Amino acid sequence: MSDENKPQESETPEVPAAPKPAAPKPAAPKPVAPGAGLKPVAPGAMKPGAPVAPGAGLKPGAPVAVKPGAPGAPRPGAPVAPGVAKPAGAAAPAAAAKKEEEAAVAANSGVSRREFLNYVWGASIALFLAQFGGLTFFFAFPRFRPGQFGGKIPASVADIPELNKPPHANDVGKFWLVNTDQGVNVLYKICTHLGCIYPWSDAAGIFACPCHGSQFQLNGDYVAGPAPRALDKFKFEVLDADGNVLATSPDDGTAISLPSGAQTILVNTGLKITGKSHF
Ligand code: FES
Repeated sequence: MSDENKPQESETPEVPAAPKPAAPKPAAPKPVAPGAGLKPVAPGAMKPGAPVAPGAGLKPGAPVAVKPGAPGAPRPGAPVAPGVAKPAGAAAPAAAAKKEEEAAVAANSGVSRREFLNYVWGASIALFLAQFGGLTFFFAFPRFRPGQFGGKIPASVADIPELNKPPHANDVGKFWLVNTDQGVNVLYKICTHLGCIYPWSDAAGIFACPCHGSQFQLNGDYVAGPAPRALDKFKFEVLDADGNVLATSPDDGTAISLPSGAQTILVNTGLKITGKSHF
């Protein structure tokens, strides 16, 4: 082989190989304190991979507590399929709150909530019966007592004026005793126009109302003015000295003659007879 065919040696100087990094030394084990490390397994605890006894675990239909928001947990308000057990946490707060409320009521008053409501119902019924009985007792009596306006008011026959003389006023009974050609009558002292108390006018010989000028005769008949009717009358009885009723005035307000033996006129101011209208 010639020198020309010999491979020429490279003129590049050889580069020494870089030293490999030293492998990290394994960390030295820390000393373990006596008693530290894995805890001993309690007797009876399940070992991983141990077979499960048949019948153990959740029973069918038993409520399962599911945390709200956990994967698979029902959304609030979502309908629950029939046969699916409701989460135990849904009704528990309401029942607990009710128990706490009952316990608080019992602790504060010494009675349960049911007893308290029974007391309230009983008191309400008792109050209603008391009011009903009181009103019934009140209305069982006459509205007006004798001698009060609205009831029967006595007047002496001696108070009845002579024939066609000025009337006699009875202020307690608010009436006039009159004696005319038609007989004795009792007139209500309130004007039939708008309710004024009218006087007797000796000068004119009539009842003259000062409010609007209505005028009435001695027997109560309408004379003039805005009043729509004659004067109103009261029903009355004529009694003797023993209190026996000798005569009773008619329901239409017509005057009557006094029977012999009359001592008292008992005027019933609760029975007003409306005067005759002139329209
Ligand atoms: Fe008597 Fe009017 S109230 S006239």
